[in-house]
Amino acid sequence: MTSNPYPLGLRLHGRRVVVVGGGAVATRRVPALLDAGADVLLVAPELTPALQARADAGRLHWVPRRFQPEDLDGAWLVQVAIDDPMAAASVSAVAAERRIFCVRADDRTAATAWTPAVTRHGPVTVAVLGGGDPRRAMTVRDAVRDLLAVRLAPDGIAVAPSRPDAATGATGGRQTGRVALVGAGPGDPELITVKGWRLLTEADVVVADRLVPGLLLDELRPDVELVDASKIPYGPSRAQEEINQILVDRALAGASVVRLKGGDPYVFGRGGEELLACASAGVPVTVVPGVTSSIAAPAAAGIPVTHRGVAHEFTVVSGHLAPDSPASLVRWDALAGLHGTLVILMGLKNLAAITATLIAHGRSPQTPAAVVQEATTGTQRVLRSTLDAVAADALTADLRPPAVVVVGDVVNALDG
Ligand SMILES: C[S@@+](CC[C@H](N)C(=O)[O-])C[C@H]1O[C@@H](n2cnc3c(N)ncnc32)[C@H](O)[C@@H]1O
Repeated sequence: MTSNPYPLGLRLHGRRVVVVGGGAVATRRVPALLDAGADVLLVAPELTPALQARADAGRLHWVPRRFQPEDLDGAWLVQVAIDDPMAAASVSAVAAERRIFCVRADDRTAATAWTPAVTRHGPVTVAVLGGGDPRRAMTVRDAVRDLLAVRLAPDGIAVAPSRPDAATGATGGRQTGRVALVGAGPGDPELITVKGWRLLTEADVVVADRLVPGLLLDELRPDVELVDASKIPYGPSRAQEEINQILVDRALAGASVVRLKGGDPYVFGRGGEELLACASAGVPVTVVPGVTSSIAAPAAAGIPVTHRGVAHEFTVVSGHLAPDSPASLVRWDALAGLHGTLVILMGLKNLAAITATLIAHGRSPQTPAAVVQEATTGTQRVLRSTLDAVAADALTADLRPPAVVVVGDVVNALDG
């Protein structure tokens, strides 16, 4: 009669785990052991390049020979990752003698422990055993992962809020919340990162920009306080102060706050100012990078920002100030001398002046150029042109912000 396995979460930090074998199976198993903080001893005559890199980096101890019984001295667990059944059986015999649990890649029925299929969702780990059928375990695991990532969390059913960054700050003993500056990506709601999504589903307060994908907000729990940052009155700098204050106040009151910003928070997103404001108020801040429109918008239009033999650099520049503005920090004359790709954000209004300046300082008028409006959304529009004509063409086509302008030979690089 086969009995059910007894599930456990092994706390391996600083504990010796022996892995026998240095091939593909070991390559897959070792990262999770290292992630758990295990003291990994790898016994194998040869290693894959990935394992070799970890050994070279001092992340594990490598014994470059075949297994010997004394390798299990001090071990809490052994993973046999070799496909020679005789050799594997002799390792598991030594392990059994010493009462050390032994996972066997070659023969699950002979093993004293099984590795489950795992999905990690922030602090939550879901481990699935499929009754001896690893494919069944993976199928169930994938379904659970999808539920955690997409369905259950927004309704507040599955994911327990966690406050790994919570700290006692300037509140005199009361628990301080936290702020996460999360990049929401360029427009397609699926382009937020897994971590950004998780924090969003755990948030008590979400302070969102105009450009964040609306569908992400649509899925928030009903009890979440949603602050629309684009509706905050006063001029741009006053509004920023107001936003900083909201972030700090809510976090000091104990809330988990997500500051959700279009693209990446640090690419023309004023994320740095918000981080400084929180830090000076003693509020813990996490920054979750996002997929920036400066790369995603060209990509969505079939334009790679670099391409072998075509462009070895790309420069992202703000066009929100005209080239002759005394406040501009951009050396347009120097940019005109580059051969690579120029990606201009917030540049539609000043496009005629920008392109004229680039041409005046030496960039060829025939350089391919494109404008991508509302990239990665259902209303995306793409215009292809040349540097001397793109401003007029964009006007004729009535292109509007948000739009990214791409200048360089990469614009046509993928044309057949
Ligand atoms: C204030 S900046 C913020 C950029 C953002 N942090 C990022 O990394 O994408 C706003 C500008 O980003 C560009 N942008 C943002 N989303 C876009 C999209 N979906 N399509 C085209 N351009 C976009 C436009 O140039 C817009 O004017």
